[in-house]
Amino acid sequence: MPLIINDIYPEKLFREDGKRLDGREKNELRPIKMEVGVISNADGSAYLEWGNNKIYAAVYGPREVHPHHLAKPDRGILRVFYRMATFSVFERKRPAPGRREKEISMIITDCLEPVLFLELYPGTAFEVFIEVMDADGGTRCASTTVAALALADAGVPMRSLVSSVAVGKIDGQLVTDLSGIEDKAGDADLPCAITWFNEELSLLQFDGDMSIEELNESLLNARNALDQIHQLQLTALKSKYTSILEEVEGGED
Ligand code: CDP
Repeated sequence: MPLIINDIYPEKLFREDGKRLDGREKNELRPIKMEVGVISNADGSAYLEWGNNKIYAAVYGPREVHPHHLAKPDRGILRVFYRMATFSVFERKRPAPGRREKEISMIITDCLEPVLFLELYPGTAFEVFIEVMDADGGTRCASTTVAALALADAGVPMRSLVSSVAVGKIDGQLVTDLSGIEDKAGDADLPCAITWFNEELSLLQFDGDMSIEELNESLLNARNALDQIHQLQLTALKSKYTSILEEVEGGED
């Protein structure tokens, strides 16, 4: 049941018991489930449920670049296509990719590029297709996280995974992982992503209002959440190989 109807937001984003409207503590992530190898026609793929967000990512490459003029003679390129299904939001979204989808595709490309060895693949492209089937805030972060997992599932050499989460402020209090309603009715939203090989931020956006002290505390909140998300990514990758191993061992006698 959507909580936002015709842009009428609730007056308070915390309940009487001090919890958020969806029952979470201030720094609690929404429930997250990840799975790899979900699309048989892709070189690598992953599926993510993050609260009410449901997102697929499929990876192809390295392969020939179309149109050819985009190819770079001295390195490969990464192309990310973030799309939201028309039925993924409360108000029907126009099917053609809009300005927001193009911007988010670019942001995700910038987040992922530092972990790839594109210099080893001249003239080719890695393509990542992201389809948001259901959206409820933080889809750029969830998409970056699931896209990194799909690249790893494709066996693309990577310096490390990339994890992403949004932190921010609602009703004057700092929180982790804003839902759609918190994103729209809150005070500040700070999506960020980390590349684990150098522990640097490859994304830091900011929308809203907060003090320097709050910003520092928010980044610490993000770091905690990013650690948890990274563990979930690693578990999802390992569980694919554990199930293959179990299948092989089960068929040995
Ligand atoms: O999804 P993310 O927070 O990265 O991006 P946003 O542009 O801040 O959008 C926040 C949320 O607004 C999305 O996750 C969707 O739930 C919702 N949205 C929508 O209802 N209709 C759109 N056309 C775009 C976004």
